[in-house]
Amino acid sequence: MPDDTTTPIAARPSLAILISGRGSNMIAIARACQSGKLQATVALVISNRPDAPGLEAARQMGIETAVIDHTTFVSRHEFDQALHQRLQQAHPDWVVLAGFMRILTSEFVDRWQGRMLNIHPSLLPKYPGLDTHARAIAAGDSHAGASVHIVSPELDAGPVISQVKVAIEPDDTAESLAHRVLHEEHALYIKALQQCIDRNSNSASDSVLP
Ligand code: GRF
Repeated sequence: MPDDTTTPIAARPSLAILISGRGSNMIAIARACQSGKLQATVALVISNRPDAPGLEAARQMGIETAVIDHTTFVSRHEFDQALHQRLQQAHPDWVVLAGFMRILTSEFVDRWQGRMLNIHPSLLPKYPGLDTHARAIAAGDSHAGASVHIVSPELDAGPVISQVKVAIEPDDTAESLAHRVLHEEHALYIKALQQCIDRNSNSASDSVLP
């Protein structure tokens, strides 16, 4: 889509954003939608934790929210079933994982295959999983960063859409590095989402794989 066009709000693709905590990526994406920087709308924010601070932030932005508390389900499968049903009600074009701290079943991932994105705070394929910044510092890496990728059944392993690099300073701690990377994550996620949306609207195929 050319830069000088603006998609009418009703025609914009919709996003369901899944969070577990503070939701700073969700807030950045929602603000970008509201300002028109990102040509999408946020239909729903879902948290698996009732006390996630991002829920209140979403409500204050006028976004519909839902809680699907994973602790109330007997199995991962049943939680994913409930999540899928709630998502179907909102029928989003894209499912956006933004600090969503749950491993999803391959059955769930398959249902949203090619339409579900995640942001991970490392330069994938380096450092899938947790403690990414501490691991990058311990390894003596010159750069850390973040990756937006298509979600596949294997954790943090789907095709990468876009990455941002952040230099590691000699006196960096995991916390100071996380702070700088997070700032870059916000811009990265907005850019990657717009890229996916544009590719889909320019393609007869519904695949966004690079
Ligand atoms: C981010 O660092 C993201 O990369 C990771 O979890 C964190 C979520 O932060 N997946 P926030 O909730 O978006 O502030």
